[in-house]
Amino acid sequence: DRAVATAVAQPNIALIKYWGKRDEELVLPRTDSLSMTLDIFPTTTRVHLDRTALHDRVALNGASATGEALRRIVAFLDLVRERSGRPERAVVDTRNTVPTGAGLASSASGFAALALAATTAYGLDLGPVALSRLARRGSGSASRSVFGGFAVWHAGHGAGGPDGDLASYAEPVPAGDLDPALVVAVVNAGPKDVSSRAAMRRTVDTSPLYGPWAASSRDDLAAMRTALLRADLDAVGEIAERNALGMHATMLAARPAVRYLAPASLTVLDAVARLRRDGVCAYATMDAGPNVKVLCRRVDAERVASVLRGAAPGSTVHVALPGPGARLLDE
Ligand code: DP6
Repeated sequence: DRAVATAVAQPNIALIKYWGKRDEELVLPRTDSLSMTLDIFPTTTRVHLDRTALHDRVALNGASATGEALRRIVAFLDLVRERSGRPERAVVDTRNTVPTGAGLASSASGFAALALAATTAYGLDLGPVALSRLARRGSGSASRSVFGGFAVWHAGHGAGGPDGDLASYAEPVPAGDLDPALVVAVVNAGPKDVSSRAAMRRTVDTSPLYGPWAASSRDDLAAMRTALLRADLDAVGEIAERNALGMHATMLAARPAVRYLAPASLTVLDAVARLRRDGVCAYATMDAGPNVKVLCRRVDAERVASVLRGAAPGSTVHVALPGPGARLLDE
């Protein structure tokens, strides 16, 4: 019981999207989702307990966290305190290498790393599934970053309450001999106008397209599992792209509309379509921001990256491979 721990976790990009909750407090989603964890943009989080402190202290990249970011982290630490039966306040130091709020899932790596560091510091020894369930409470997509490679997050069943909580967690998904890369085009690393949390609430409440998308997402997930097992990257990409475009359609139909895609995003989508016409396996997915992530074969990744750089001047392009799940560092 050293009351201190440091953990690292990486972002994941959903190929079947999570968009919409059925329970906000427990972060229970309306649909299953499936993602690939990346080998880039790690978040490293150190938690140590301070017996004498009256409040948690949180530093994000060296600056004191305030407002909503602080509130979410303290609420998460409260959950860990409740489970461990230990009342101490914590000092949290977290370092992110991904632009925060740019739709690059820094909350996924952030809460996955915090869940592992905090539970360890508070003396809890959760297995990966229980850790995933807990990370979910911080940010839904964090449930998937507990695992490396491909992971599926089960929506589970039931309304709120303990049963709903227990049934909603992520776990690894079997994939065949895929050798994928994800080329990330950061077209605009600025913070977003509407948080994904608020945007998904508005979409569920007001978009007439939400129900049909959620229904088709179930079929997409089943088809995706098959495509992964067969290591059929064209099928994986095609399903991922249609699922993402459908999610953006639900947002565009919300009232008022939520639009994350920028002109540069569409320019990148055109470049991806041209790559496909030239016989390259390349498919796009977009999250709550203007950046575009392009799934392709590992051998084609550098070619895809240079095409994207040329297509969207001013963007920065990163090549990611499947990465590891959340893990502890030696103190
Ligand atoms: C578009 O996990 O950030 O990236 O649960 O409210 O914290 P909260 O939302 P978050 O949403 C991610 C949405 C998405 C799609 C996905 O990652 O599945």
